[in-house]
Amino acid sequence: MKLIGPFRQVITLANFPLRGKLSDEQIEIIEDGGILISQNKIRQIGNFEALKSENQNIEIEEIEGMQIALPAFTDSHTHICFGGNRANDFAMRNAGKTYLEIAESGGGIWSSVQHTRNASEEELLKTLVKRIDFLIALGITTIEIKSGYGLDVENELKMLRIIKRAQQQTKATLVPTCLSAHLKPRDFEGSNEEYLEYILAEILPKVKEENLAKRVDIFIEKSAFQPEESKAFLLKTKNLGFEITVHADQFTPGSSRVAVEVGAKSADHLEATIDEDIEFLAESDTVATALPGASLGLGEKFTPARKLLDAGAILAIASDWNPGSAPMGNLITQASILATFEKLTTAEVLAGITFRSAFALGLEDRGKLKSGLKADFVTFKTNNFQNILYNQGSLKAENVYIDGEKVL
Ligand code: NIG
Ligand code: FE
Repeated sequence: MKLIGPFRQVITLANFPLRGKLSDEQIEIIEDGGILISQNKIRQIGNFEALKSENQNIEIEEIEGMQIALPAFTDSHTHICFGGNRANDFAMRNAGKTYLEIAESGGGIWSSVQHTRNASEEELLKTLVKRIDFLIALGITTIEIKSGYGLDVENELKMLRIIKRAQQQTKATLVPTCLSAHLKPRDFEGSNEEYLEYILAEILPKVKEENLAKRVDIFIEKSAFQPEESKAFLLKTKNLGFEITVHADQFTPGSSRVAVEVGAKSADHLEATIDEDIEFLAESDTVATALPGASLGLGEKFTPARKLLDAGAILAIASDWNPGSAPMGNLITQASILATFEKLTTAEVLAGITFRSAFALGLEDRGKLKSGLKADFVTFKTNNFQNILYNQGSLKAENVYIDGEKVL
């Protein structure tokens, strides 16, 4: 057993409910706290001195200076396995160019597909691990990563295999998702429905065989896949044994409904969700995931996070880090900014980037500092946890622990 501390404050989130709004009075703060760890799991949280005297013959890891500790974060939506760069898309968008003009001049998702297809496995692996390390340095120890820039058997499998190789190089938990239904690739001869059939017949069986992903995602949008064809596809993936997540209501409403109807683990984006569908989501167990990084990258409105929480939804916040719409990658900055625009309490933001986003990935063993849970936590050199969001991402994590071991 090992006792780590003393911390000026330990923020446990232990008593937070899975869904709905939260007030900051609900935040449990353990002053002069300690974290007792046994076999990679949290054994007990309490006053450091009390834990020390109650437990003889244990290893003590002394914390230097004033630090606070809280559960490590989960980023439940990223596209960080990619080749190339889309800075020109960003510049063109800001210069007033339309989606079509950008696509016609060689930008858009298709440009990332070409760069990703052309990149070597080693190159993709190296940049992926670098991005994972960037996220760990923010205090994120669980990271979902999508394919979706391969868009044919060979290249989708290549992406998912690289994510699997990256898992060998990091202690963070990587959760791969097959997003072959990101877009019908330009070189596919056939209709949308035929492409979705191709995914079901050619890609997913191999994904299963090699155990490359347990989750399937789809981009439902006017420019990508339509609600009806998507619903039929998702029900079939479910029959194959996959969990489902959906890129929903980013620009046009209607698809979060599909996500709920097929029992998706999460519906992500939701910038355009109408009030009626907010209610529908809130009555379901489908996590509503806000992606403020995409709103900031595109200059579009934010997900109605306040309304979702008030209606009782399970609200997660994730980065959507990708080369096109969300190039920033700093979830802490993004969540802090979402809080100012949507009027979210600190409690709601912390819940959204910890156990609620972990729940979206089906991981209920983390995201709170509570006996029996995975000992993943992050520390900051500050005297008050409020400084984390207040500094909007510029207060850097001091240390990051995974399974009770310091990795940063
Ligand atoms: O989540 N919306 C669709 N997919 C990504 C963007 C991907 C890209 O532009 O490369 C998103 O925003
Ligand atoms: Fe996305």
